[in-house]
Amino acid sequence: MTYKGKKINKIYSSGEGYDLWAEYYDKTLSFLNSLEGNELNLILSCVEGKKVLDLGCGTGRGIKHLYDFKAADVYGVDVSKKMLEIAKKKFKKANFILADAENLPFEDESFDVVTALFLIVHVGDLKKTFEEAYRVLKNGGFFILSNINQRKPPKLKIYNDEVIIESFYHMPKHVISALEDSFFDIEIDELVYEDGVWINQIIKAVKRA
Ligand SMILES: C[S@@+](CC[C@H](N)C(=O)[O-])C[C@H]1O[C@@H](n2cnc3c(N)ncnc32)[C@H](O)[C@@H]1O
Repeated sequence: MTYKGKKINKIYSSGEGYDLWAEYYDKTLSFLNSLEGNELNLILSCVEGKKVLDLGCGTGRGIKHLYDFKAADVYGVDVSKKMLEIAKKKFKKANFILADAENLPFEDESFDVVTALFLIVHVGDLKKTFEEAYRVLKNGGFFILSNINQRKPPKLKIYNDEVIIESFYHMPKHVISALEDSFFDIEIDELVYEDGVWINQIIKAVKRA
Protein backbone atom coordinates (compact mmCIF):
# COMPACT_ATOMS: atom_id res chain seq x y z
CA MET A 1 0.00 0.00 0.00
CA THR A 2 1.24 3.53 -0.70
CA TYR A 3 0.33 6.82 0.95
CA LYS A 4 1.39 10.14 -0.65
CA GLY A 5 3.80 8.20 -2.87
CA LYS A 6 5.47 6.21 -0.08
CA LYS A 7 5.13 2.53 0.71
CA ILE A 8 3.60 1.86 4.12
CA ASN A 9 1.87 -1.05 5.79
CA LYS A 10 -1.46 0.41 6.76
CA ILE A 11 -3.29 3.63 7.59
CA TYR A 12 -5.44 3.07 10.63
CA SER A 13 -8.85 4.53 11.37
CA SER A 14 -8.89 6.74 14.49
CA GLY A 15 -10.61 4.05 16.57
CA GLU A 16 -8.06 1.35 15.71
CA GLY A 17 -5.02 3.63 15.57
CA TYR A 18 -5.60 5.40 18.89
CA ASP A 19 -6.41 2.07 20.55
CA LEU A 20 -2.92 0.92 19.54
CA TRP A 21 -1.28 4.17 20.53
CA ALA A 22 -3.27 5.09 23.67
CA GLU A 23 -0.63 4.12 26.23
CA TYR A 24 1.91 6.42 24.55
CA TYR A 25 -0.38 9.42 24.05
CA ASP A 26 0.16 11.29 27.32
CA LYS A 27 3.94 10.81 27.20
CA THR A 28 4.23 12.04 23.62
CA LEU A 29 1.55 14.64 23.05
CA SER A 30 1.80 16.84 26.14
CA PHE A 31 3.32 19.45 23.76
CA LEU A 32 -0.20 20.04 22.39
CA ASN A 33 -0.77 22.36 25.39
CA SER A 34 1.87 24.71 24.02
CA LEU A 35 0.12 24.92 20.63
CA GLU A 36 -2.98 26.38 22.24
CA GLY A 37 -1.36 29.58 23.47
CA ASN A 38 -3.22 32.05 25.67
CA GLU A 39 -6.16 32.19 23.26
CA LEU A 40 -7.69 28.97 24.52
CA ASN A 41 -7.43 30.03 28.17
CA LEU A 42 -9.28 33.27 27.46
CA ILE A 43 -12.03 31.41 25.62
CA LEU A 44 -12.50 28.62 28.14
CA SER A 45 -13.61 30.94 30.94
CA CYS A 46 -17.12 30.63 29.39
CA VAL A 47 -17.45 26.99 30.63
CA GLU A 48 -17.76 27.95 34.32
CA GLY A 49 -20.87 26.34 35.82
CA LYS A 50 -21.89 24.88 32.43
CA LYS A 51 -22.73 21.46 31.00
CA VAL A 52 -19.96 20.73 28.49
CA LEU A 53 -19.30 18.02 25.92
CA ASP A 54 -15.73 17.36 24.71
CA LEU A 55 -15.66 15.68 21.28
CA GLY A 56 -12.66 13.43 20.61
CA CYS A 57 -11.70 13.76 24.29
CA GLY A 58 -8.93 11.15 24.04
CA THR A 59 -7.17 10.61 27.36
CA GLY A 60 -8.80 13.73 28.80
CA ARG A 61 -6.30 16.53 28.10
CA GLY A 62 -9.21 18.88 27.32
CA ILE A 63 -11.33 17.49 30.18
CA LYS A 64 -8.62 18.73 32.56
CA HIS A 65 -8.92 22.22 31.04
CA LEU A 66 -12.71 22.08 31.51
CA TYR A 67 -12.40 21.24 35.21
CA ASP A 68 -9.67 23.89 35.65
CA PHE A 69 -12.19 26.40 34.30
CA LYS A 70 -14.91 25.06 36.65
CA ALA A 71 -17.28 23.35 34.22
CA ALA A 72 -20.17 21.89 36.24
CA ASP A 73 -21.07 18.75 34.30
CA VAL A 74 -18.59 17.21 31.87
CA TYR A 75 -19.07 14.62 29.12
CA GLY A 76 -16.42 13.20 26.80
CA VAL A 77 -16.88 11.09 23.67
CA ASP A 78 -14.28 9.30 21.61
CA VAL A 79 -14.10 6.47 19.06
CA SER A 80 -11.13 4.87 20.86
CA LYS A 81 -12.02 2.57 23.75
CA LYS A 82 -8.43 2.54 25.05
CA MET A 83 -8.13 6.34 25.07
CA LEU A 84 -11.41 6.51 27.03
CA GLU A 85 -10.20 3.90 29.54
CA ILE A 86 -7.24 6.15 30.39
CA ALA A 87 -9.48 9.24 30.63
CA LYS A 88 -11.92 7.42 32.93
CA LYS A 89 -9.15 6.56 35.40
CA LYS A 90 -8.10 10.21 35.58
CA PHE A 91 -11.49 11.92 35.80
CA LYS A 92 -13.93 9.93 37.93
CA LYS A 93 -16.65 12.59 37.95
CA ALA A 94 -16.85 12.97 34.15
CA ASN A 95 -19.13 10.92 31.90
CA PHE A 96 -17.30 9.09 29.11
CA ILE A 97 -19.04 7.49 26.13
CA LEU A 98 -17.67 5.51 23.19
CA ALA A 99 -19.27 7.36 20.27
CA ASP A 100 -18.58 9.00 16.94
CA ALA A 101 -18.71 12.81 16.79
CA GLU A 102 -20.69 12.39 13.56
CA ASN A 103 -23.50 10.53 15.34
CA LEU A 104 -23.86 11.63 18.95
CA PRO A 105 -26.01 9.71 21.47
CA PHE A 106 -27.51 12.86 23.03
CA GLU A 107 -30.82 14.67 22.82
CA ASP A 108 -31.10 17.92 20.88
CA GLU A 109 -30.07 21.04 22.81
CA SER A 110 -28.53 19.22 25.77
CA PHE A 111 -25.23 21.13 26.21
CA ASP A 112 -24.20 24.73 26.94
CA VAL A 113 -20.77 24.30 25.37
CA VAL A 114 -19.19 21.76 22.99
CA THR A 115 -15.40 21.55 22.64
CA ALA A 116 -13.27 19.68 20.08
CA LEU A 117 -9.52 20.00 20.63
CA PHE A 118 -7.31 18.48 17.93
CA LEU A 119 -10.25 16.40 16.68
CA ILE A 120 -10.92 17.75 13.19
CA VAL A 121 -7.50 16.70 11.94
CA HIS A 122 -9.10 13.24 11.90
CA VAL A 123 -12.38 14.31 10.33
CA GLY A 124 -12.62 14.30 6.55
CA ASP A 125 -16.04 15.84 6.05
CA LEU A 126 -16.50 18.56 8.68
CA LYS A 127 -20.16 19.09 7.88
CA LYS A 128 -21.54 16.08 9.77
CA THR A 129 -19.52 16.77 12.92
CA PHE A 130 -20.44 20.45 12.88
CA GLU A 131 -24.13 19.66 12.35
CA GLU A 132 -24.07 17.27 15.30
CA ALA A 133 -22.39 19.90 17.48
CA TYR A 134 -25.11 22.34 16.40
CA ARG A 135 -27.89 19.84 17.18
CA VAL A 136 -26.74 19.00 20.72
CA LEU A 137 -26.01 22.63 21.66
CA LYS A 138 -28.60 24.89 23.25
CA ASN A 139 -29.44 28.05 21.32
CA GLY A 140 -26.68 30.58 21.89
CA GLY A 141 -24.34 27.77 23.06
CA PHE A 142 -20.64 27.87 22.24
CA PHE A 143 -18.63 25.53 20.03
CA ILE A 144 -14.90 25.81 20.81
CA LEU A 145 -12.45 24.01 18.55
CA SER A 146 -8.88 23.88 17.43
CA ASN A 147 -7.38 23.09 14.03
CA ILE A 148 -3.75 21.96 13.93
CA ASN A 149 -1.60 22.78 10.90
CA GLN A 150 -0.60 19.21 10.09
CA ARG A 151 -0.21 18.44 6.42
CA LYS A 152 1.20 14.97 6.87
CA PRO A 153 0.13 12.43 9.52
CA PRO A 154 3.02 11.59 11.87
CA LYS A 155 4.41 8.07 12.17
CA LEU A 156 3.65 7.13 15.76
CA LYS A 157 6.09 4.67 17.32
CA ILE A 158 4.74 1.62 19.12
CA TYR A 159 6.92 -1.26 20.32
CA ASN A 160 9.01 -2.09 17.23
CA ASP A 161 6.43 -0.82 14.80
CA GLU A 162 4.70 2.41 13.79
CA VAL A 163 1.13 3.54 13.37
CA ILE A 164 -0.21 6.09 10.90
CA ILE A 165 -3.71 7.34 11.68
CA GLU A 166 -5.93 8.70 8.93
CA SER A 167 -5.68 12.51 9.00
CA PHE A 168 -6.92 15.48 7.01
CA TYR A 169 -5.52 18.97 6.51
CA HIS A 170 -8.06 21.79 6.83
CA MET A 171 -7.27 25.33 5.72
CA PRO A 172 -8.40 27.86 8.39
CA LYS A 173 -10.78 29.62 5.98
CA HIS A 174 -12.42 26.30 5.08
CA VAL A 175 -13.07 25.51 8.75
CA ILE A 176 -14.71 28.91 9.17
CA SER A 177 -16.91 28.51 6.09
CA ALA A 178 -17.93 24.98 7.17
CA LEU A 179 -18.98 26.40 10.56
CA GLU A 180 -20.93 29.22 8.96
CA ASP A 181 -22.63 26.75 6.61
CA SER A 182 -23.65 24.77 9.72
CA PHE A 183 -25.35 27.87 11.20
CA PHE A 184 -22.64 29.06 13.58
CA ASP A 185 -21.54 32.67 13.97
CA ILE A 186 -17.81 33.16 14.53
CA GLU A 187 -16.99 35.09 17.71
CA ILE A 188 -13.23 34.41 17.86
CA ASP A 189 -10.91 33.07 15.16
CA GLU A 190 -7.25 33.22 16.26
CA LEU A 191 -4.16 31.73 14.68
CA VAL A 192 -1.28 30.73 16.95
CA TYR A 193 2.08 31.27 15.21
CA GLU A 194 5.54 29.79 15.64
CA ASP A 195 8.48 31.13 13.62
CA GLY A 196 6.08 33.03 11.37
CA VAL A 197 4.00 29.95 10.50
CA TRP A 198 0.54 29.28 11.87
CA ILE A 199 0.56 26.10 13.95
CA ASN A 200 -2.94 26.07 15.39
CA GLN A 201 -6.30 27.78 14.83
CA ILE A 202 -8.49 28.42 17.87
CA ILE A 203 -12.16 29.16 17.23
CA LYS A 204 -15.10 30.15 19.39
CA ALA A 205 -18.37 29.88 17.46
CA VAL A 206 -21.91 30.56 18.64
CA LYS A 207 -24.99 28.55 17.69
CA ARG A 208 -27.33 30.76 15.71
CA ALA A 209 -30.89 30.60 17.05
C1 LIG B 1 -5.22 14.14 18.54
S1 LIG B 1 -6.32 13.28 19.60
C2 LIG B 1 -6.92 14.64 20.62
C3 LIG B 1 -7.39 14.18 21.99
C4 LIG B 1 -7.73 15.32 22.95
N1 LIG B 1 -8.85 16.10 22.46
C5 LIG B 1 -6.53 16.21 23.15
O1 LIG B 1 -6.60 17.40 22.81
O2 LIG B 1 -5.52 15.72 23.67
C6 LIG B 1 -7.75 12.98 18.60
C7 LIG B 1 -8.81 12.15 19.31
O3 LIG B 1 -10.01 12.20 18.53
C8 LIG B 1 -10.59 10.91 18.50
N2 LIG B 1 -11.46 10.84 17.30
C9 LIG B 1 -11.08 10.81 16.00
N3 LIG B 1 -12.15 10.80 15.19
C10 LIG B 1 -13.25 10.81 16.01
C11 LIG B 1 -14.65 10.83 15.79
N4 LIG B 1 -15.16 10.82 14.54
N5 LIG B 1 -15.47 10.86 16.85
C12 LIG B 1 -14.97 10.88 18.12
N6 LIG B 1 -13.66 10.85 18.39
C13 LIG B 1 -12.79 10.83 17.37
C14 LIG B 1 -9.40 9.97 18.48
O4 LIG B 1 -9.71 8.66 18.85
C15 LIG B 1 -8.44 10.67 19.45
O5 LIG B 1 -8.64 10.25 20.77
